[in-house]
Amino acid sequence: MLDDLKANNRAWAKWRVEADAGFFRRLESQQAPQYLWIGCADSRVPANEIVGLDPGELFVHRNVANLAPPQDANYLSVLQFAVDVIKVKHILVVGHYGCGGVRAAVSGERLGLVDHWLHPIREVAHEHRHELDAIPEDRARHDRLCELNVIRQVRNVASDVFIHDAWARGQDISIHGWVYSLSDGLVNDLGVTVSGLDEIERLHV
Ligand code: CO
Repeated sequence: MLDDLKANNRAWAKWRVEADAGFFRRLESQQAPQYLWIGCADSRVPANEIVGLDPGELFVHRNVANLAPPQDANYLSVLQFAVDVIKVKHILVVGHYGCGGVRAAVSGERLGLVDHWLHPIREVAHEHRHELDAIPEDRARHDRLCELNVIRQVRNVASDVFIHDAWARGQDISIHGWVYSLSDGLVNDLGVTVSGLDEIERLHV
């Protein structure tokens, strides 16, 4: 199996150079992506591929259930580097319908360490329990929780001091909330884009 992967890699590198002789040389000297992607680790949601971006065009952070927890050093390191050094213009928080992490958070089943990781989703579910309880169909209720989770993570990113400092410096950064559909490959823009301090309030849904 691994031999297949190595063969794929050689074929890919060859194809890249044939199409564009300077491709790797250019990337080696710098990365200047305009976008930071914060997405789920799910293998069915490959960041670059979904939005048709090449190596060097998307800075990517993925974890279970696309969370942006304000105490997570991994996420914060990525965020600060993306904002302060790379100076990305757009941050995309991308969830997906049918997310197993989101489902696990509210299933009541004990899975281990990941239960702690998923705790913020249980909080979102609790805060929105009236809206969620009113949705009779299980799948629709779960999909709505996937959306609410993304909106909360957009709010987390937009509330971060790294972002506030960048805005105060006049840096142009927008944070967007998307949900990807596994069933048709399309992204649903939730329309919760935040581009400045004055726009955070409306995310307190
Ligand atoms: Co997921």
